[in-house]
Amino acid sequence: MRIGSLLLDNPFVLAPLAGYTDLAFRLLCRELGAALCCSEMISSHGLIRGQKKTLELLATVPEERPVAFQLFGSDPGVMGEAAAHPALRAGDVLDINMGCPVRKVVRKGAGAALMKDLQRAEQIIRAVRRSTFLPVTIKIRSGWHRDSETAVDFALMAQEAGAAAVSIHARSWAQGFAGRADWGIIARVKEAAAIPVIGNGDILSYQDGKRMMAETGCDGVMIGRGALGNPWVFRESGRPSTLEGRKPVVLRHLELARRFVPPARLLFYLKNHLTRYTSGLPGASGIRQELARSASVEAILQAILSAGDDPGPL
Ligand SMILES: Cc1cc2nc3c(=O)[nH]c(=O)nc-3n(C[C@H](O)[C@H](O)[C@H](O)COP(=O)(O)O)c2cc1C
Repeated sequence: MRIGSLLLDNPFVLAPLAGYTDLAFRLLCRELGAALCCSEMISSHGLIRGQKKTLELLATVPEERPVAFQLFGSDPGVMGEAAAHPALRAGDVLDINMGCPVRKVVRKGAGAALMKDLQRAEQIIRAVRRSTFLPVTIKIRSGWHRDSETAVDFALMAQEAGAAAVSIHARSWAQGFAGRADWGIIARVKEAAAIPVIGNGDILSYQDGKRMMAETGCDGVMIGRGALGNPWVFRESGRPSTLEGRKPVVLRHLELARRFVPPARLLFYLKNHLTRYTSGLPGASGIRQELARSASVEAILQAILSAGDDPGPL
């Protein structure tokens, strides 16, 4: 898949997940095969005001490239100004969030609210394009409500305004994250648009990703929740079925987190991410309890090293 001048190794992309797709997790996903990873959403207002927390979200290292940074906001002027921020030049793609359903974001006219305001969305894309040399992409939903599917018109508008690709989460704003994603909308956008279309929604395995590509014709796939505790989702062989098989990646995640996650947040971060690696293992609840009890990073490391595969009931 090609996004503007950027040629990707394969069609698998890590979705932006606020609170999860930090530098350490992105690096891990790149190591396991993701062709491109997206940062969590970054406030355009926070960026132009130089807020510390916002700038922290832009942390990157050359090894993780290519990386996409995602901006959110509703004011074309502010979005344009934010897109010119020098820190963004360390990235390869600038994505605009037009699908976030969270009320705090939508109330201010950003995220999925932009799907109700085509004109403003177009102004934002054009303003961002004017401010950066990076390829500009958008991430949208199928529409606002299930019965007002606007993704096709929206994608065509974005293409006309100069977007280099469109990612589409196959649910409406009203659906939030409930029910099943309707991949049909991805096929309809792909059929109409000339720019690359990246499908998203409910991919839990590499094979699901391939199936979405076969069923919809999309150029690439984006995986969000399915990658949490399972960065092997980017590999055909998938997640190992035993703890011993998973340990090297869990320990690698811990090592990357120690390097890149601020010490004050590290313990919470590790508990939040590492418990997810136990999913589907016979001894999962015991390991989770052990991790929850851990009061230091060393204790977490020991809990992982000493955990063994539970043979389960004989
Ligand atoms: C915890 C969480 C945080 C998310 N944060 C973002 C975000 O910052 N930007 C964005 O465009 N989408 C965000 N999303 C939506 C995902 O990128 C993705 O579109 C959605 O989860 C559907 O894909 P999946 O079924 O592979 O998870 C978030 C979703 C979740 C569950």
